Amino acid sequence: MPARGVFISFEGIDGSGKSTQARLLAEALRAEARDVVATREPGGAPGAEAIRRLLVEGDPARWSAETEILLFNAARCDHLERTIRPALDRGAVVVTDRFADSTRVYQGVARASLRPLVDRLHDLVIGVDPDLTFVIDMDARAALNRGLARRSGEDRFEDLGLDFQEALRAGFLALAREYPNRVQIIDGARAPEVIAQDVVARVAAHLA
Ligand code: ADP
Ligand code: TYD
Repeated sequence: MPARGVFISFEGIDGSGKSTQARLLAEALRAEARDVVATREPGGAPGAEAIRRLLVEGDPARWSAETEILLFNAARCDHLERTIRPALDRGAVVVTDRFADSTRVYQGVARASLRPLVDRLHDLVIGVDPDLTFVIDMDARAALNRGLARRSGEDRFEDLGLDFQEALRAGFLALAREYPNRVQIIDGARAPEVIAQDVVARVAAHLA
């Protein structure tokens, strides 16, 4: 049975403003009295948050690329079972900060030969993609500076540097060409409220 709700994701490089825009969209939809579940990856359910800590903390060489892909999928499977599917089944709008596109891009950019493994695992254990995905696009250096300005202990991936961020940006733009019906590019180099208005208008068009 198809889900009744609407599934929306935000994607983009670290520091591009995904979390900010996911929050502003959730607030705008709640103001219209919609049932909204705001969530994030890696994480979004208690078990998935425990897996998140394994992924984002510690030595950058802690996991092989293959193990890392399995951990992201394990976290995503839990997130889907515990949070996303129940919400969609009751008709809610789910707004997530990252989903499977992050694995396609981050793990695919880290090693291009891994993309077939990423795709096969996605088909086997996840099997769904959002109805609508916003890629917040901006200059990689500016995004990196924003990210560094709010350093947390969660810097396993952010330490990878500017070249990696630039490759990620190109990866997200390529994704919009790969999935033109689902993925929309949003110019992230504007004021947060201006971007939020743009996003709300696009969501309204999708819901109409
Ligand atoms: P992400 O979730 O993509 O890593 P965040 O939403 O956490 O990005 O934003 C990263 C930093 O940049 C935060 O300090 C946030 O307040 C700031 N920020 C977010 N959006 C904008 C924007 N449009 N212009 C300037 N700064 C922004
Ligand atoms: P996130 O909390 O979104 O970080 P940020 O707010 O800094 O963008 O994600 C943590 C890190 O995990 C981030 O660097 C991206 C990475 N990541 C992957 O490599 N693959 C994935 O599938 C996901 C969901 C995240």
